[in-house]
Amino acid sequence: MQLISTVAELRARLSGEASIAFVPTMGNLHEGHLDLMRQAREYGSCVVASIFVNPLQFGPAEDFDQYPRTLDADCEKMKAMVDVVFAPSVNEMYPQQQTVFVELPPIASELCGAARPGHFRGMATVVLKLLNIVQPKTALFGKKDYQQLHIIRQLVAQLNLPVNIVGGETVRAQDGLALSSRNQYLIDTERSEAVFLQQTLQAMRQKFLLGSRDFAVLQQQAVQALNDRGWIVDYVSIRNRTDLKKVVCNQDDVVILAAARLGKTRLLDNIEICNQA
Ligand code: PAF
Repeated sequence: MQLISTVAELRARLSGEASIAFVPTMGNLHEGHLDLMRQAREYGSCVVASIFVNPLQFGPAEDFDQYPRTLDADCEKMKAMVDVVFAPSVNEMYPQQQTVFVELPPIASELCGAARPGHFRGMATVVLKLLNIVQPKTALFGKKDYQQLHIIRQLVAQLNLPVNIVGGETVRAQDGLALSSRNQYLIDTERSEAVFLQQTLQAMRQKFLLGSRDFAVLQQQAVQALNDRGWIVDYVSIRNRTDLKKVVCNQDDVVILAAARLGKTRLLDNIEICNQA
């Protein structure tokens, strides 16, 4: 595995590679990332991962400074799966002030976009830059960040980027908590409580499968259940699975998306409910 930190060196290394599969990350790797890297091998003869904590996608009061930077440990974890790691500095990615951004559709201002203004603009801009730098045939992203994956699919489709986007299933801890680099912010009591987010979505799914279609009530009950246990809820929302638009009753192909804070940690989760008929 080769560790590269400049765009020029990376381009030189990758020129001539016929099929590159790419896993962009912000590092602090967990089994969810490693699972994507393992899958990547099925899509390309050269697997590239990037590690870059992207300042553009963090708000001024967010955790950019605290975000765990663990490059050595990350390299150790992925060395058997990845051929090239691209770990640029902020200056390498943004040698001049970034004044060109991707303008996103309205969905990017809803859900996580409402709680984190500008987050998806910064995310989409860096993803576009990374795709242009690496030029992969396939890029893989986790479904835990469901809205992010949706926006990346739109970016690629609407800007005609020649890359196939693959969404990897969410990897979970034994108790069901979705793996996330931010889980390590949780103190012990919060860690045991954290699984309640997934349990809340599972309970909604059960009600849905038993025929409940009053989505406003289902959402409200879930928010209440979380609030009662001390969570601060950003949203719990039942959306159409393909376009993430709000659904009215009688739709069967949905995803339930949630983001809520436990102490200082913001957790995301979702659950897909495909047409069961
Ligand atoms: O999901 C992430 O880790 C980041 O948002 C991404 C896609 C690597 C862009 O910085």
